[in-house]
Amino acid sequence: MILSIESSCDDSSIALSNIDNYKLLFHQKISQDKEHSRYGGVVPELASRLHSASLPRILENIKNDGFDFSKIKAIAVTNEPGLSVSLIEGVMMAKALSISLQIPLLAINHLKGHIYSLFLEKKAIFPISILLLSGGHSLILEAYDYNNIKLIATTMDDSFGEAFDKVAKMLDLGYPGGPIVESYALNGKGDICFPIPLRYSNEMAFSFSGLKNAVRVFIENKSLNQSIKSEICYAFQESAIKHIIQKSKKYMQYSNIKYFGVVGGASANKSLRMELEKLCIQFDKDILFAPLEFCSDNAAMIGRCGIDAYHLGEFVSFMDLDISPKSRF
Ligand code: KG4
Ligand code: ZN
Repeated sequence: MILSIESSCDDSSIALSNIDNYKLLFHQKISQDKEHSRYGGVVPELASRLHSASLPRILENIKNDGFDFSKIKAIAVTNEPGLSVSLIEGVMMAKALSISLQIPLLAINHLKGHIYSLFLEKKAIFPISILLLSGGHSLILEAYDYNNIKLIATTMDDSFGEAFDKVAKMLDLGYPGGPIVESYALNGKGDICFPIPLRYSNEMAFSFSGLKNAVRVFIENKSLNQSIKSEICYAFQESAIKHIIQKSKKYMQYSNIKYFGVVGGASANKSLRMELEKLCIQFDKDILFAPLEFCSDNAAMIGRCGIDAYHLGEFVSFMDLDISPKSRF
């Protein structure tokens, strides 16, 4: 088995995966949404303290479930990108387990982990185009194999999920904003609209700060009732998704890669999924999503990624394992 640990932001999670048949044997995640909600975003110091309490609790549950720790052959841990004080908690636990169990470490890039959420309990598919939409990133990537991932497009400012979080904060709806804005949007009728970012630009890039600002300007000096909040959420979501669709379409016009995978916490958005499905039919692409439960941060995807790292012998020494707030691939 591989034991995997994820603590890059505000989810503490540990999983056990079978190295030979990819089966997920154990998975638990303790989310901190409730604790951060009153601040309208993640408070790093609070996240760190909560990880240091939650990770040992999950480990205790693994022990209580009767798993034999001598069958664990490696520890896979997210070491980048993320909040430094959060990443450190997982990495410290990984190092402690590696010493006590005398087994090697695997350093897993969180974004690569999201890609592998498509391959839970199965073999990886390459080459594959990836649309990664999360709280920290909005990317189009081309993955050719474990170590060959090409960046096609990124955001010039905010990320897709982050824009949902900020709009939710402006409307005082709570955190994380994505699912809340999505549910408010269900009651919108389309009475207002916001501009679509980079609509007339040829650039292969995303941008959400202008759209976010359009929402901010619209709500200035307005009293906001439930119905106007729904209209704002509807109009914001509509523009954000149209932007993703326009840039994905631009990409598909020249890409020959058959598979198109959509990953990251924001890939749970149902309207986004529907629009991307239509686009993939139009361009004859096979679309892949992670199971809804594994779109947001989780240790199962880190473990699945860890299995391929294990087979490639990509071990990292105790001394060399460090963290990085930025992605290095
Ligand atoms: O991948 P993830 O769990 O964490 C990061 O790596 O950032 O993504 C979390 C992000 C948050 O910004 C959250 O608001 C957004 O994904 N999100 C959504 C939805 N569900 C989560 N955004 C839009 N629609 C959703 N349904
Ligand atoms: Zn993530």
